[in-house]
Amino acid sequence: MRVVITGATAGIGEALALEYAAAGVTLGLTGRRADRLEAVAAACRAKGATVHTWPIDVVDQPGMQAMAREFLERAGGVDLVIANAGIGGPDRLERGDPAPIVRTLEVNVNGVVNTLVPFMPAMIAQRSGHLAAVASVAGFRAMPLRTTYSASKIAVRTLMEGWGMDLEPHGITVTSINPGFVESELTAKNRFPMPFILPTPAAAKRIVRALRRRRRVYTFPLPMAVLARVLALAPRWVVKRLVR
Ligand SMILES: NC(=O)c1ccc[n+]([C@@H]2O[C@H](COP(=O)([O-])OP(=O)(O)OC[C@H]3O[C@@H](n4cnc5c(N)ncnc54)[C@H](OP(=O)(O)O)[C@@H]3O)[C@@H](O)[C@H]2O)c1
Repeated sequence: MRVVITGATAGIGEALALEYAAAGVTLGLTGRRADRLEAVAAACRAKGATVHTWPIDVVDQPGMQAMAREFLERAGGVDLVIANAGIGGPDRLERGDPAPIVRTLEVNVNGVVNTLVPFMPAMIAQRSGHLAAVASVAGFRAMPLRTTYSASKIAVRTLMEGWGMDLEPHGITVTSINPGFVESELTAKNRFPMPFILPTPAAAKRIVRALRRRRRVYTFPLPMAVLARVLALAPRWVVKRLVR
């Protein structure tokens, strides 16, 4: 199996890399912190995997295209690409600074585009493959205080849904992964209650199982999946009260 994972230096991406790492598996791992990337690659190699690394920002479009080209050359094709890298945080609208908001949209939306699109021609040619992106339960409704994050994840879910319809006739599966809270560097910064939070390895195991089953949408854990769908339909005042 040949698997590419972005954001593999920490959190969910690192746990996914370790979950897939095994003899006979070729991994392509990315992330900006070269030292962390090499540490994760070494742990995956210790489990028998062949690992290629690219210390790269997902916003770097030519760099991501080169990464895809090089991975395809080295691995002789690709079976699964997981666009996992992402950032999040409060909007802090009172500061009047668009830069962090634009950066969040760039990393979370353009980053997914830069990761998945360069692999599409190869998957179409080989008439097989699986593209996945990590969105969020926050991608079902505008979330006050973190609206940019939820907007970026709504965009990712929409891309996955539509691209799934475009690419299924070519034998390609497209999956939107929508986690609730998972322990990671991202959630370590949160100063609010995180119900049903999962340890990272447990979350990775669930994601891998859902991808093996070729789920088009995987929202977990169940109570958060129910909450996300209720929030999607709830009146505005319910969302405001619940989030605050
Ligand atoms: N944890 C949760 O509760 C949760 C819930 C729902 C969805 N998610 C989503 O799951 C994904 C992974 O999040 P996580 O919780 O594992 O966060 P994390 O621990 O902060 O890890 C994020 C990963 O993304 C990489 N990354 C960030 N910006 C990047 C950039 N510009 N270019 C390349 N890589 C970049 C980071 O590596 P470098 O810093 O080395 O670049 C790191 O490997 C994200 O898309 C997040 O939105 C997380």
